[in-house]
Amino acid sequence: MQVSPDCEEKEVPGNDKWKLFHVVNLVTKGHGYFYGKRDKYKSSVFRINMGVKGIHICDKKGIKVLFDMEKIYKEPAFGRLNYNTVLLDGYTPSMFSNGIPHEKQKTFLLQICEIAQQSKIFETSVKIIKEYSTIWQNADSKLKSTWEQSIMHLTSDIFTEAFFGVRVDPHSMYTCLKGSWGKGRALRKALAGASCLKTSFRESPAITNILKTAHDAGISEEQALMDILFMLNFNSYGGVSGALRTCMARLYVLEPEYKEKMKNEIITVLSHQNLSVEAFKEMPHLNNFILEVLRMHPPVPVFFGRTKDNFILDSESGRFSIKKDELLVANVHMAHRDESIFDQPNKFMPSRFENEALIDHIIFGYGPFNEEPRPKIITVRDRPSPLQSLRL
Ligand code: HEM
Repeated sequence: MQVSPDCEEKEVPGNDKWKLFHVVNLVTKGHGYFYGKRDKYKSSVFRINMGVKGIHICDKKGIKVLFDMEKIYKEPAFGRLNYNTVLLDGYTPSMFSNGIPHEKQKTFLLQICEIAQQSKIFETSVKIIKEYSTIWQNADSKLKSTWEQSIMHLTSDIFTEAFFGVRVDPHSMYTCLKGSWGKGRALRKALAGASCLKTSFRESPAITNILKTAHDAGISEEQALMDILFMLNFNSYGGVSGALRTCMARLYVLEPEYKEKMKNEIITVLSHQNLSVEAFKEMPHLNNFILEVLRMHPPVPVFFGRTKDNFILDSESGRFSIKKDELLVANVHMAHRDESIFDQPNKFMPSRFENEALIDHIIFGYGPFNEEPRPKIITVRDRPSPLQSLRL
């Protein structure tokens, strides 16, 4: 949304009082709560209350600040939902840590991803996908009715085998993720799941090398184990299984003409070579389909950060003065449906990405999807998210 920006710094519009009123609106309207405010204030930056007060940002230019660790610090929470760090024995994972500890933890995680890359994560994925394809081809009605769970198992197998050389109990991955901020029974189940994952990881063939890498990065063995547990469970298993399930659902309702083009493209490319990263580059229809899924259904639709100090926020709706300790809420879902960037944003149209310039407007862990790592790293969180250093 571009609303004639002026150069004057302004106050953030909107009010965040009457918490109950806001929360009822949010629960009943979902994203409609944010759209209503955007239209009311004619601004992509405005005040909200999601149970906690915050400043909502829904344009790419404004959202960039959430990746600038000179201005932002992280908390182990998603708005009013606190992550259950008890699942990690009280350790804070890289995603929620700050300063030097964060730099060390993230350096460690990027190194671990590099090692997984070298030890053929792509080949592991292809092998496991083939196994599951055989199972799915002979699926009975029970398996068909639990297809989402089967995709989650596949994702669990890929990541744990690629990083630890073992496949863990997929149910433990599920309960651990589900209890991320749950209470009571959900939390008890999550604790049992997390405990099972920790045992499997500790007994895995890759643990010795992983702990050596942790030692070299200057972090303790326990911290390292908890960082990988969080990354594999929350970031990769949570993010990728969500994206894969949406891909499947979208495939099911995809217009037949596009589906046919995608199918023929895959058959043609694979008729003269094996599945590889190079082969994928020759499949633009498939690539654009995935980009469109990630645009319309970003697996991380909102994320959060708190301001370290007063500063001026640059956005498509102008410049706003922001105070210290404000909670910023980046709404990727809305930025990906910005009608000033994407024609008919609510329509599923993979062919829109034939215009490659649009890829810059897909936001990921490192900011825009296409962005190269900057040559001079200011802070470590400025580096790409591990997803971008992995080529699955
Ligand atoms: C489609 C899949 C994925 C999406 C959309 C995604 C998106 C994101 C986003 C938006 C963040 C920032 C969250 C925040 O700061 O609150 C993030 C962080 C992170 N992601 Fe992903 N991610 C995906 C998959 C993965 C995978 C496969 C891995 C690792 C194997 C991974 C590892 C991480 C890690 C470790 C962080 C925290 C980085 C830090 O410490 O600053 N993600 N991701």
